[in-house]
Amino acid sequence: MDPRHPFHPETSSVSEGFDPRLSVMAVRPPIYPVSTFAFATAEKAAQSFEIALGKLPAVPGEDPGLIYARLNHPNAEMFEDALRSVEKGARAAACFTSGMSAITTTLLTLARPGGVVLYQRPVYGGTDHFLRHMLPQWQVTAVPVEDGGWPDALRRHADTVHVVWLETPANPTLHLIDLQAVAAAVRSAVPTRHVPIAVDNTFLGPVFQSPLLHGADLCVYSATKFLGGHSDVLAGALTATDPQLVARIKETRAFLGTISEPFTAWLLQRSMATLWLRMVKQSKNAARLVDLLAAHPAVQCVHHPSRFTGEQARIFRQQCTAAGSMVSLELHGGRAAAFRFLNALRLFKLAVSLGGVESLACHPRTTTASEMSDEDLKASGVTEGLVRLSIGVEWWRDLAQDLTQALDAARAAG
Ligand SMILES: Cc1ncc(COP(=O)(O)O)c(C=O)c1O
Repeated sequence: MDPRHPFHPETSSVSEGFDPRLSVMAVRPPIYPVSTFAFATAEKAAQSFEIALGKLPAVPGEDPGLIYARLNHPNAEMFEDALRSVEKGARAAACFTSGMSAITTTLLTLARPGGVVLYQRPVYGGTDHFLRHMLPQWQVTAVPVEDGGWPDALRRHADTVHVVWLETPANPTLHLIDLQAVAAAVRSAVPTRHVPIAVDNTFLGPVFQSPLLHGADLCVYSATKFLGGHSDVLAGALTATDPQLVARIKETRAFLGTISEPFTAWLLQRSMATLWLRMVKQSKNAARLVDLLAAHPAVQCVHHPSRFTGEQARIFRQQCTAAGSMVSLELHGGRAAAFRFLNALRLFKLAVSLGGVESLACHPRTTTASEMSDEDLKASGVTEGLVRLSIGVEWWRDLAQDLTQALDAARAAG
């Protein structure tokens, strides 16, 4: 990149992370399906291990040498460079075998026995399960915090909080969290230690939301969603302001074996080049559909950042540049109406996951959020009538037609 003219992330997503001179002048990155790397000499092998284990500092500009693909490999590095270059405020990135392995590797690096993870509900069902059912096995307590409850929760747990976990927009209600307000509360309640704030940025990032510019330390992604974008890859990723923090998480990754393998990392980098095109088109499609959905008599309300009012609208204006393509609908008639609607869809596929080129629909209460406790479901607003839509890149009028006929069917039989 020319330092006199830093590229817009839309450009970096196509051009960064790969130098053709390293690979026979190919214009796109090759795949290196390799598990182990040769050393020029035995001394070089010993030195590479010392650097990898942190016993010797890496000399800036000098290649520490690749060792073994569970630690690092060219496709992981190329994707990580590309992702870092598009995430505003990021100085390092890491890739993982899934969103859950990005989340669990991060939490296992940062949490400590006897310590607390503060998090705001709702979070993705898998994250919720890990926080509430698995971390306690290592004497880590996950404490949920409500809107407005941060100063109080931080006062109570100031000595023991090791990480703050946020998801905004939250899956599946799209509830937004004011990152600057939470960051200010964390820094003022715990002034003597730096408590990392991690944000699951899967729904809007890195195109429409940049948490690292709003006080977060880490952005975590299910790269299975928009980053991969084609529902053909399972992967995770993170970006951070502090390379040392990423180095610590990568150390855990090396021992858990949660780095994505070369083909996956290559697919992710392939997808980066169309990330802006896809997310902008998907968000435009969603914007065209929300008013139509809200006006249908079968619909009680539509959850989409473009329709938020009051405090949620203020947060949206402060921290997001577009509303994205995740839409949740609250239908009159509870679970029965939601199921009638889902069963009547023809173009939308009935599937969990999101962020791919094709439009998907699901019933979170009985699928992705089915393991949440009744109290959490109630507190988070995950009701029986809630349906989640992931809007794809299809022609919006076809999507509108399909949604309208399925809503008519849900209402007619009700
Ligand atoms: C917001 C969010 N975070 C994390 C995950 C977990 O990602 P993965 O399925 O890639 O492990 C998901 C999966 O749906 C998600 O929606």
